[in-house]
Amino acid sequence: GKDGYRHYMEKELHEHPVVIGQTLQRMIDPATRRVVLPDLPFDLATVPRAVVTACGSAFYAGMIGRYWLEELARLPVDIDVASEMRYRNPPLTPGGMALLISQSGETADTLAAMRALRADKQHIVSVLNMEQSTMGRESDVVLGMVAGPEISVASTKAFTAQLSVLASLTVAIGRARGTLSEAREDALMSALFDLPSRAAEVFTNGDAIRSMAAIVAKARDVLYLGRGICFPVALEGALKLKEISYIHAEAYAAGEMKHGPISLIDSSVPIVAIAPSTILFDKVLSNLQEARARGGKLLVFTDAAGARRLKGVAEEIVVLPDVDAFVAPILYTIPVQFLAYEVALLKGTDVDQPRNLAKSVTVE
Ligand code: F6R
Repeated sequence: GKDGYRHYMEKELHEHPVVIGQTLQRMIDPATRRVVLPDLPFDLATVPRAVVTACGSAFYAGMIGRYWLEELARLPVDIDVASEMRYRNPPLTPGGMALLISQSGETADTLAAMRALRADKQHIVSVLNMEQSTMGRESDVVLGMVAGPEISVASTKAFTAQLSVLASLTVAIGRARGTLSEAREDALMSALFDLPSRAAEVFTNGDAIRSMAAIVAKARDVLYLGRGICFPVALEGALKLKEISYIHAEAYAAGEMKHGPISLIDSSVPIVAIAPSTILFDKVLSNLQEARARGGKLLVFTDAAGARRLKGVAEEIVVLPDVDAFVAPILYTIPVQFLAYEVALLKGTDVDQPRNLAKSVTVE
């Protein structure tokens, strides 16, 4: 049941903190505070590169995973949506790691890509919520999320669970490859351990998120902006808004706005920005000021330090808890999905069963 919530999506949004905690618990030994992976059929220290593929929200989780793997573990990563990866026929080094990400484990495009990657002699590591699934059976290794059943067609908690697995995996690979100092690894692990509590604090921002929602609900088009590892969070926010409120939304890497989409901006186009003070903030701020100069209304997710800089610049600000930049994309996803939910409520759409969509897409 919905446990007193109006929709499964609302219930599942509130499960983020618990799901993140449970998923991390499965990946991390609490005594040593180190990530423990299942036995792998290859050596993480010498694996030449990773190829990441998935669809929809799971693909955006993969994009965040790419930032982590490249930045922290210095592992080269190739990534594409599954429906393209399959036909792109990229030259892959045999013995590479293929990372497939899927809530359902049944998505036809992702499954087909998995089989093609196996034929290309990649080791198949999948990040799944439904471990007893076709993809689960066909993987060399399954890294399970612990998200529990996700009923809402729009994915919420599975996304932060996927990220919790990918963040842990990154630390393990960084350790194996010797790219993390002991102190850096300790700091990353502390950020992960703190995350469930910080995630729970997000729900104190309901009023601020609803003020944003009132503006977004009146718009025909919405622009989502983020940079670096927050760009995929912007993509996730725009997808969720489109899916359940039927408002047209597009996400751009904030620095790319001036290369085209800025021509769309006027006072009728709200701009949602994902802007923690710790990630390329000055760059994002100057991109936002350009948008504001053209009449754009800025709705910004940031932290206390960011909020001080945005005073008088942004129309609405949601002030999130301070976290290490490493886990910021996980934390910021929660209010961004929440915003889409609040907009859908105002629009009166069928939140859990949006038109034209199915929970698991089993056709290619
Ligand atoms: C978005 C959404 C979809 C899925 C995509 C992949 O809210 O739910 O974009 O993320 O269809 O599904 P899985 O993860 O089951 O492979």
